[in-house]
Amino acid sequence: MFPGPTIESRRGRPVAVRHRNRLPIPIVVHLHGGHTPHESDGYPTDDIYPQDMTYLHRHQGMTGMDGHAPMPAGDVSHGERVYRYPMQQRAAMLWYHDHRMDFTGPSVWRGLAGLHIVRDDEEDALGLPRGRYELPLVLTDRAFDADGSLLYPSVDATLVNTPGVTDPYVAGVLGDVMLVNGVPWPFADVDRATYRLRFLNACNARRLRLRLDPEPHDGLLQIGTEGGLLAAPLQHDSFELAPAQRLDALVDFSRFPVGALVTLYDDFADGRMHQIMRFRVGERVGPRFTAPATLSTIEPLDPTKATVTRTFRFQRGSVGHRDGWIINEEPFSPTSVAARPKLGDIEIWQLFADFHHPVHVHLDPFQVVGRGIYGPGPFDAGWKDTIDLSPGEQARIAVRFRDHPGRFVFHCHNLEHEDMAMMANFVTA
Ligand code: C2O
Ligand code: CU
Repeated sequence: MFPGPTIESRRGRPVAVRHRNRLPIPIVVHLHGGHTPHESDGYPTDDIYPQDMTYLHRHQGMTGMDGHAPMPAGDVSHGERVYRYPMQQRAAMLWYHDHRMDFTGPSVWRGLAGLHIVRDDEEDALGLPRGRYELPLVLTDRAFDADGSLLYPSVDATLVNTPGVTDPYVAGVLGDVMLVNGVPWPFADVDRATYRLRFLNACNARRLRLRLDPEPHDGLLQIGTEGGLLAAPLQHDSFELAPAQRLDALVDFSRFPVGALVTLYDDFADGRMHQIMRFRVGERVGPRFTAPATLSTIEPLDPTKATVTRTFRFQRGSVGHRDGWIINEEPFSPTSVAARPKLGDIEIWQLFADFHHPVHVHLDPFQVVGRGIYGPGPFDAGWKDTIDLSPGEQARIAVRFRDHPGRFVFHCHNLEHEDMAMMANFVTA
């Protein structure tokens, strides 16, 4: 199944998810956006080995990215693993996906990703469009071989030895077919009603600029982001969404004539990748929803209360004898620690990027407090878990880790950059 099954949870109600690995390669499951203890966060070396080890034994040469270092084994399980999520977090659209060290890109590309939607009373009280009027939209670009199989330019097709992609794809793998919820360029039949469209950019490397045409009344009314509801709705003509980012939006289809076709465009792309999908407006009339002026309360993380400022540079660099992507001159290693934040403290992280890097931090969401000499950008509001950085850009985020001591990662969510070592550890205590 692609995307994987959608899981729905409630805030405060612990959830256990058992993942069984019937694939020939190891997998690791991370709940992206989850406020999850280390043991269940899908640390990149905490593999679930295949039930049937034949393929692995046949292919495993145990070489790492630099061609000689053996891949370190973490807290490995065999055949299956139960991940435990306390769900002490706000309502939000999370997603789960593979996170195996050096091989996340090819596995997510082939379908190891799905949604996990968290609900809570605060959100329910708003009476937002539900049921048929709530549409989660998982956007992915993919490429296919002549036989219909997913085509990915791995250096090593066994997916167990040498990580990385062939040279033309070192900046990231882009597909030439746009899929929504696994379907190429689909249609969605909609009523004349207000819809809650919940977008996830699950592309490996493609940034999107989303726009609806003809433009609905009120445009795209943003009500939420990665970490759940915004304080107040924000109106956009178009919306940028980098890999792993989410946009929660209200769209009013009620003022279109019956039979109208409303196209979702990606204005960063051209040719056949310009169009993503179409909404076909039907006869049926459904409820219209007017967003309240206040959606939620967001406690601002005050930068003047920060106890430490850290700097991380996301740059091209060498990983062993190959070209890769690194943070502060260091390629990812499970054993080196880039930061030791104290639980409960506010920290400022200054991020520098030499290229487009969507930077994602595990464990807790953050707030964007500045970009260069300016304040946060138009798509930075609310609790974020991924910030989109442009070439040459510098941003500042305020973050406060809570509850769970242990080792976690932060990384670029361009999955090819991540696999080519643009990841680092922080250890909370
Ligand atoms: Cu969506 Cu560390 O990942
Ligand atoms: Cu990157």
